[in-house]
Amino acid sequence: MTIHIGAKPGDIAETVLLPGDPYRAKWAAETFLDDVRLVNETRGMLGFTGTWQGHRVTIQGSGMGMPSLSIYANELIRDFDAQTLIRIGSCGGMQDHVKVRDIVIAMTASTMGSPSRSIFREFDYAPCADWSLLRAAANAAEGSGSPVHVGGIYSSDTFYDERPDLNEQMVRHGILAVEMEAAELYTLAARYDRRALAILTVSDHLKTGESLPSEQREKSFAQMVEIALNAAFT
Ligand code: ADE
Repeated sequence: MTIHIGAKPGDIAETVLLPGDPYRAKWAAETFLDDVRLVNETRGMLGFTGTWQGHRVTIQGSGMGMPSLSIYANELIRDFDAQTLIRIGSCGGMQDHVKVRDIVIAMTASTMGSPSRSIFREFDYAPCADWSLLRAAANAAEGSGSPVHVGGIYSSDTFYDERPDLNEQMVRHGILAVEMEAAELYTLAARYDRRALAILTVSDHLKTGESLPSEQREKSFAQMVEIALNAAFT
């Protein structure tokens, strides 16, 4: 049991999927896993453990933003010994060819500041995905029916962004999409020698203003869970 995760020793699997929304964690666990058990409900940040094709899996909400994800990922890694951590979430498309509903697999996650910033100070660390997970997820996503983009994303601290000039530079430098968690997840995984990946659906687009209707978000979310499970156990 930790400050933020009320699970008992052994309740958390080596493989953890991390949606931001705790109710998505519940839906994914009930939809994809067998023998599901609620293992955490501290602060309503639900976590479930079950099995997928015989493999133990935990699906734990991470909350929104890097400070929240950092708390859950730190405790999952340091106290529960999680080895493989896969974020499944949404992102805002930034390039013209990255459309709403497409899947983005984050090879790198640039950021202006994460909870790890205080370690790096003037050093621009480049948080990157685990290669074996990235390759397996890209292969699994090819069969998903949705266009897949693999490349760099931006992990922002703000959803309601006030820096159009910075976004322009990111677009210019090939950043595919923006979300709010992956850079810290990748940094923590590197620090503790674990595997991490972020698989994202484009839920809105910064240039066109288009956004995915809520009933289609569930379909996209299901696709990401399937890709994540296949990648974790390839
Ligand atoms: N997640 C989904 N869409 C986003 C956006 N536009 N900005 C930051 N995070 C997001």
